[in-house]
Amino acid sequence: MSGSKSSPTSSTVVSRSGRFSGGPAADVAAFSESISFDWRLWRHDIRGSLAHAGMLARIGVLTRGELKAIRSGFAAIAAEIETGSFRWNPALEDVHMNLEAELTRRVPAGSKLHTGRSRNDQVALDVRLWLRDEILALRGEVAALQRSLVGLASENASVWIPGYTHLQRAQPVSFAHHCLAYVEMLARDDERLAGTLDRVNVCPLGSGAIAGSTLPLDREWVAKTLGFTDPRTGVPRVSRNSMDAVSDRDFAVEFCATTALLSVHLSRLAEDVILWATSEFNFIRIADAYTTGSSLMPQKKNPDIAELTRGKTGRVVGNLMALLTLLKGLPMTYNRDLQEDKERLFDSADTIRACVRLMSAMLANTTVKAEACTAAASDPLLLATDLADYLVLRGMPFRQAHHVVGAVVAAAEQSGRPINELPLETLRAKSELFGPDVREIFDLRRAMERRTVTGSPGIREVACQISDWRRRLSMPAPRGTAKRRPRS
Ligand code: ARG
Repeated sequence: MSGSKSSPTSSTVVSRSGRFSGGPAADVAAFSESISFDWRLWRHDIRGSLAHAGMLARIGVLTRGELKAIRSGFAAIAAEIETGSFRWNPALEDVHMNLEAELTRRVPAGSKLHTGRSRNDQVALDVRLWLRDEILALRGEVAALQRSLVGLASENASVWIPGYTHLQRAQPVSFAHHCLAYVEMLARDDERLAGTLDRVNVCPLGSGAIAGSTLPLDREWVAKTLGFTDPRTGVPRVSRNSMDAVSDRDFAVEFCATTALLSVHLSRLAEDVILWATSEFNFIRIADAYTTGSSLMPQKKNPDIAELTRGKTGRVVGNLMALLTLLKGLPMTYNRDLQEDKERLFDSADTIRACVRLMSAMLANTTVKAEACTAAASDPLLLATDLADYLVLRGMPFRQAHHVVGAVVAAAEQSGRPINELPLETLRAKSELFGPDVREIFDLRRAMERRTVTGSPGIREVACQISDWRRRLSMPAPRGTAKRRPRS
């Protein structure tokens, strides 16, 4: 970054011109600059400025020729930023003043661009424009992660694993059912992102520094030009209160909150992956390219992507706390404190995007070890509840059935035999209701067929869920599947 302090541009554009006798002290400039991080808003800043300039031409503040010159000036600047030859000047504080100063240096009409505008409504606009793009991109990544999970589910629809509560084996589920639990969580995250997007999608430009403008600004035209419209009706959406508009960062908090919860979901998924990849569980194999080794222990293969995803949750959750704390106690309206919102917001956006993308890629390169899963799921104790249900179907109250099966489990433990190999007499000693057909209870596949309740891990139910998710996520039919007729 560099720039000449004495250029004619800076003196005509910087906010101190006129009122102050000199520039800020060097350490003040270094303390207060934001260009080192807000430069990334440049595309959106130019987009906003072009819309504002278009409106100024409509209301007669700019001539057609001036508007044209501003447009080509910004096009040239954008091309230089793109190629990396543009020189940002920290003395000009932020992205807004850098771009306006450079435009004005090249195009005299640049000095009319800030008419009816303040950096307060400008920065609110830029962040909203930027966040809108960011949310759309993130929703695409979340859908890709859902597809990776549904892909794993489809491939492993009849691989059974123990489901756990308290991290103790509880009841059998399918690997697919476990994957689809995360697909559901991600769907709620996506809904929250869509809701956030809806509230981000309001145009604050025209609010000025705090109290609008005396000029006849056409806010609706700007909003429409920038796509701040109701998605159903196309009606432009402009903020209703200038004081609220320049100091509101609710939309940024919402994004940080939504991504914090998304990161918590990712962290839980990461924890499951880490457990499954241990020798103790041994349920999955992550492709080498998505693991790391140890500098000392030659045999190690570590699930670092999942661990880092789990670890980065701390940052994303912390960013939410930082933003909430930043806003608490700010008097109306704009306060310079608000400049501190951007690094937290950018960090949440970058971190969550990377985590979602890498988790998705890792899962797409993960295979399930069906044999180890089946061996773990074949623990007959997982079907103890099914045994109680057997008695219930024969008329026993559930509380009593629970007690009887508990006694059967204890008998199995004492005799050192698996519960499914106890002689019928031992069972009948606990309840006369046990008959020879009780053996079928321990047939895992049939046990999974019996689970027909909506939302359960039953074979049919999970197959329906998989095909429903494939349709919702626009996934092609899995290989080897005949083309289904369209739903009527
Ligand atoms: N860089 C500033 C920010 O991010 C832009 C707005 C400055 N406004 C002001 N009144 N100093 O908040």
